[in-house]
Amino acid sequence: MRIIIAKDYEELSARAAMIVAGQVCLKPNSVLGLATGSTPLLMYEKLVEMHRTVGLDFSEAISFNLDEYLGLPPEDEHSYHWYMHRNFFRHININPENIHIPDGMAKDVERECGEYDRAIHAAGGIDLQVLGIGTNGHIGFNEPDIKFEATTHKVKLDQETVTANSRFFADPAEVPRYAISMGIKTIMHAKRILLLANGETKAGAIYKTLYRGITPETPASILQLHQDVTVIVEESAAKYIQKNIA
Ligand code: F6R
Repeated sequence: MRIIIAKDYEELSARAAMIVAGQVCLKPNSVLGLATGSTPLLMYEKLVEMHRTVGLDFSEAISFNLDEYLGLPPEDEHSYHWYMHRNFFRHININPENIHIPDGMAKDVERECGEYDRAIHAAGGIDLQVLGIGTNGHIGFNEPDIKFEATTHKVKLDQETVTANSRFFADPAEVPRYAISMGIKTIMHAKRILLLANGETKAGAIYKTLYRGITPETPASILQLHQDVTVIVEESAAKYIQKNIA
């Protein structure tokens, strides 16, 4: 595991963008696993900037998002479809046919999940998976006590996650309680993983992820077993790990 402490959010985002850009430059038809949330926003902005200024080319790239709320249509501004199009896809030259996000309106959720995993497999597997982390240590929407062997599936969001995500909704009662998420097994099959943590609220989760036992109580701790993980931690999120890497 490679751990990079970034002095601030700007540096975290610049480094993350460079890693994604490097992946796409070296392998233009890369399969990218993408995350939403606050953390990767500036990374996406920087990738868009690289597309505009130096022609970073996404025309052959394929993307699979980690998750989507159940019950929100793509045009709902709280959906992850909307987030990805607004913050990234509409500003770059990715082929719309190569974009994959779980369908939050799927009638047959189990089937949707199975098809999502089959599509990842058919694309050759994920080359680089970008992850944020929840204050409770979740990755994707794999909440504490998840089964590590889970593939893409329907999840019930933890109260802690619902509370954290209510900042994006006018009324906290509107935060969906269920989502479709890639499972831990799906995530662990990615060839490379880039985990990003920004802000002091993530410090505890990052410490447990990197330095405590591998346990379903901290879903991200399973990443200790992955062979190619880069973790970029902004200084305040790294406050409990500074000693360990000194
Ligand atoms: C988002 C996702 C979540 C977030 C996590 C952190 O697609 O899967 O695991 O990465 O909840 O969210 P932020 O970045 O908003 O703190």
